[in-house]
Parts: sequence; C-alpha cells; structure tokens
Amino acid sequence: MKGAAFLAFPASTLAGSVLWSGIFNSSYTVADFDEWSWSNQIAPWQWYIHGDGETSEYLALSSDYKNPAASDAQGLRTRLDNTSFWEGQSMQRTELIPQMSPSSSASDLGSGHLYYHFSLSASSTNPPSSSSEHQIAFFESHFTELQYQDNTLKWNAGGDTHYSVELETGKWYNFAYDIDFDNQKVGLWASNGSDALTEVVSPVSASASSNGADFHVGVLSLTGDGTEDWFWSGVYIEKGDLTKSIGDGSSASASGGESSSTTVAAAATTSATSSATSAVTTSVEATTAAAATPTQDVAVASSSTSAASTTSVATTSSSESTAAATPSASAPVIATPSAAPSAAAASGSAALPVPTTASEILTDVRALLTALLTRQGVHARDFTV
Ligand SMILES: *[C@@H]1O[C@H](CO)[C@@H](O)[C@H](O)[C@H]1NC(C)=O
Ligand SMILES: *[C@@H]1O[C@H](CO)[C@@H](O)[C@H](O)[C@H]1NC(C)=O
Ligand SMILES: *[C@@H]1O[C@H](CO)[C@@H](O)[C@H](O)[C@H]1NC(C)=O
Repeated sequence: MKGAAFLAFPASTLAGSVLWSGIFNSSYTVADFDEWSWSNQIAPWQWYIHGDGETSEYLALSSDYKNPAASDAQGLRTRLDNTSFWEGQSMQRTELIPQMSPSSSASDLGSGHLYYHFSLSASSTNPPSSSSEHQIAFFESHFTELQYQDNTLKWNAGGDTHYSVELETGKWYNFAYDIDFDNQKVGLWASNGSDALTEVVSPVSASASSNGADFHVGVLSLTGDGTEDWFWSGVYIEKGDLTKSIGDGSSASASGGESSSTTVAAAATTSATSSATSAVTTSVEATTAAAATPTQDVAVASSSTSAASTTSVATTSSSESTAAATPSASAPVIATPSAAPSAAAASGSAALPVPTTASEILTDVRALLTALLTRQGVHARDFTV
C-alpha cells in the first residue's frame, strides 16, 4: 500500500529528513492544543506559556493564516492581548514549544547539524507595538532568536545582531536557523514570500544548545499591553540537507480551489486509509503510554537591552501545568513534579475526524501518511498536492 501511496503524490522536494513537524493538517483544531498537559505530553506541541484566558483567545488556526506559498493546510495565529501575562509576569507571552513523542528522542533536537524552519508574518489589523522589544522564535538560552522593535525585525546570534530587515505587516518572512550544535555555530537562511531560502548570514559562533523542548514558537513582548497578532506556518526541524523551497510550488493551485487531479489522488489513496489509520492510532497510544522525562523551561526574561536574565530550570515533571511553576523575575523556580503520567488520559486524542469532501479526505490521508512516514525519516511535504 505504501507503493500506491507514493505513486499518488508528486515526487519529494525535501532535501533532508524531518525530526519534528509542527505543520498543521486540516483537522487540527485549537482544542487540540489543550489536549497537551504535563501529565499528557502528546506531540506535536507543548502549550503552557500564555495568559489566563481560553486558548482560543491566544491561538487560532486557518488556511488564511499560512504563507500562501506553503503547502500547509492551515497556519497559526498567535495573539498577545491585555491578558497575556503568564504566571503574573509583566511581559506579554504566547508561545508554543515543540513536543517530541517519547518514541523519538527530544535530545535529537539539540544535537548534530539541524535546520529550524518557520515562516512568520505580522498582522496589519493588529500590528505589533513598535516601541516594545519582542523576542520571537527563541531558544531558552537565547543563543539565537529574532527580535522586533522600532519597525525592525532582526536576527541575533551569540548576543549580536547579524541581520535586520524593516518589518512590513502582511508580508511573509521565511527563515531557517542553521544550527550546528556540535561545532557551536549558527547561521541564517531567509527569504520573502514564496522565494526560496538563501543564506543571509553564514555561520557565526554561538553557545548553541537545546534540550529539545525549549524552542519558543511564539512572541514575547517585554513592555507591550495592546493586542497584536502574528502568523506562523512551515514550522519544522530538519536534519541533513537543507530544504530551500517554501512549499513545492503546486500549492498555489491547491489553495485556489479543487482540482481534478486532487480528486483522483484522493481516490487512489483511499485504500491506504484504513491501515494508515490503525498504525497512527497505535503510535499515538504508544506515545501516551510512555513516561517521558520532560524538561520544563521557565523563560523569566531575557534581552540584550534589558537587565533581566533567563533562567532555565530542568525538572522531571508530570504534574499539571497549573502546578508546574510560579516564576518570578528575580529567582529561578523549581517545579515540583507529582503524579505519574496517565496512560489512559489521552485516548481521546487518537480519535480521527470523519472527512466529508474529497479535499478533506486527501488532506487527512496525507496527514496520516505523514504521521507514519515522518517516523521513518520521510517528510510531510513529500505528499503535497
Ligand atoms: C482589555 O481589552 C479589552 C478589549 O480591547 C477591553 O474591553 C478591556 O477593558 C481591557 N482590559 C484591561 C484590563 O485593560
Ligand atoms: C526581503 O525584502 C526586504 C525588503 O522588504 C529586503 O530588504 C530583504 O533583503 C529581503 N530578504 C531577502 C532574504 O531577500
Ligand atoms: C493532524 O495532525 C495532528 C498533529 O500532528 C495529528 O495528531 C492528527 O492525527 C492529524 N490528523 C489526521 C487526520 O491525520
């Protein structure tokens, strides 16, 4: 059945293999983010750094929120508003963190030579506060990150700014952090819109490290208090050769409406659905049953221009996030783990929605195959239509 599935989709444009993917399929909903907790650490996202409101106040998914050039089914909108104060901090924060499934090793995300991909756009409707320093797509130690302030998006590594561009709202910026953990170097690849990535900063020295659960996909605004929206898509972590393309060039027709070839591909792969479904269900259950050793990171504050510093606290935690930590700006906080992970807790997360249109069936089949094949080192974008 795999042979048939491969034949039904265009050839791969992916250069490396994907260690972790945060690309949203059509069935992913905002409610899915809430399925994650310290006692139910399901891939692909940790969700705990946010204000006290409902998740839907801070996160939204839509095909309108992605880079139109990307093959993702949906993009993510992260919002900061006047409630976005996590655990009593004075900074606005809405941040997701990649969650590996226990069947993979989180430490893989912090070793070797990897590319951390993401596309980013700032909203014109709720534009960012230009006077506040923003930290975006950062690691716990801030060895590399984007910053935004004074209408400028800049890339920092090892504490210095190596690249900057005037931020235009509504425009898509694509990035890949080129991180060589072994040789302690970081470079930057970038492009605009649908352009392929080019190297804009060749690798510089930096104290590159990651525990595999400290890449903050989101925005921290040091002194903002208004409402601002940022959009994300194409978030994935690649090993091996760098994929430079944003999508595979065929997504323009896919986003423009149904095509007959889409329908044919959906029909051709329907037979793969049931076996793929059972395999995915099995892997989700395996994921849930395994007891992870998570690391909880508490980004207290960090900035080259502010006096605060970042504290990274490694703990073994399986307690609920509400019990996890009460950080302060001045002292490290140690979370106190309690309960053992519940193997039964996440059975609902394995439930699969029932697709209705050919397009949805295709997207779901693609997502299922992606879930399976990613584990074998093959990437989602192999199945772009
Ligand atoms: C937050 O913003 C909302 C809508 O803009 C407004 O109604 C509310 O009063 C604000 N709350 C605070 C605490 O400023
Ligand atoms: C993206 O466009 C800006 C102008 O808005 C330009 O300064 C920048 O060099 C472009 N980036 C790349 C990677 O081409
Ligand atoms: C959609 O993506 C999520 C997250 O990767 C995954 O858990 C889910 O199984 C996918 N849905 C389908 C129908 O494949």
